[in-house]
Amino acid sequence: MSLKDNKKVYFGNKKVTQLEKEEGVQQIFSKVAKNYDLMNDIMSLGMHRLWKRIFVQKAGLEKNSLVLDLAAGTGDITKIILDESRTSKVVLCDQNAEMVAKAKDRAVNEGFINNVTFEIASAEKLPFKNNQFNKIFISFGFRNFSNKEQSLRELLRVLKPKGTLNILEFSKVKNEVLSKVYDIYSKTLIPKIGNFISNDAGSYQYLVDSIDTHEDQEGLKFMMENSGFRDVSYENLFDGIVSIHIGKK
Ligand SMILES: C[S@@+](CC[C@H](N)C(=O)[O-])C[C@H]1O[C@@H](n2cnc3c(N)ncnc32)[C@H](O)[C@@H]1O
Repeated sequence: MSLKDNKKVYFGNKKVTQLEKEEGVQQIFSKVAKNYDLMNDIMSLGMHRLWKRIFVQKAGLEKNSLVLDLAAGTGDITKIILDESRTSKVVLCDQNAEMVAKAKDRAVNEGFINNVTFEIASAEKLPFKNNQFNKIFISFGFRNFSNKEQSLRELLRVLKPKGTLNILEFSKVKNEVLSKVYDIYSKTLIPKIGNFISNDAGSYQYLVDSIDTHEDQEGLKFMMENSGFRDVSYENLFDGIVSIHIGKK
């Protein structure tokens, strides 16, 4: 283990070791997997569907692309990719086995299993060869990574030259009034709703706290550039409640 592995990182609003974050994040997503899709709709008032559709459309998928949907959860992004681009092939990858199992069930039930392969692996150590993917998508996963710099190195490694990394993530709201309303909603209501639906306020408290301690728009842009991505840009949706970052290999 190197000194770097002992670096403390935010897990919600607490600083812990990378290993503790990895274990904590695994436990949380194992707990929320059962109600994840329902909670997503309730917590974002259905808005996550629109944000994800815009996210995939902005990436401009070319024909016959090989795409990595990383931190894929239950497969929302994979489903939209195959809907938008029928000739694409998608590798759906997540470190949490329960989430991947749910994604497989959904892919069968909702008819998007063709052209998808499934992998259980973490972003920090991807089981893929160099220069494979035309595009990588990470939707609401990046802030949970226990070693963001290491994962960016891995993403650069597995992307083809000129391939793009596309990240959709909660960010910093620009408008002060909206920021206050959003703060009250996320900090008081979301943990209560989580408790009501899944008897689990703690996991939803983590999801809210992890938004607070994640890099803002400029911070994430800097991190991507520092890891070797070129032409990095971002676009705010809903005044920065979420943002889309794109960088090229
Ligand atoms: C909030 S969910 C997002 C799921 C889906 N992409 C979506 O937008 O609905 C975050 C996912 O990231 C996964 N995850 C967290 N850290 C990870 C890592 N280091 N490597 C791979 N997956 C990770 C979790 O298991 C979880 O399924």
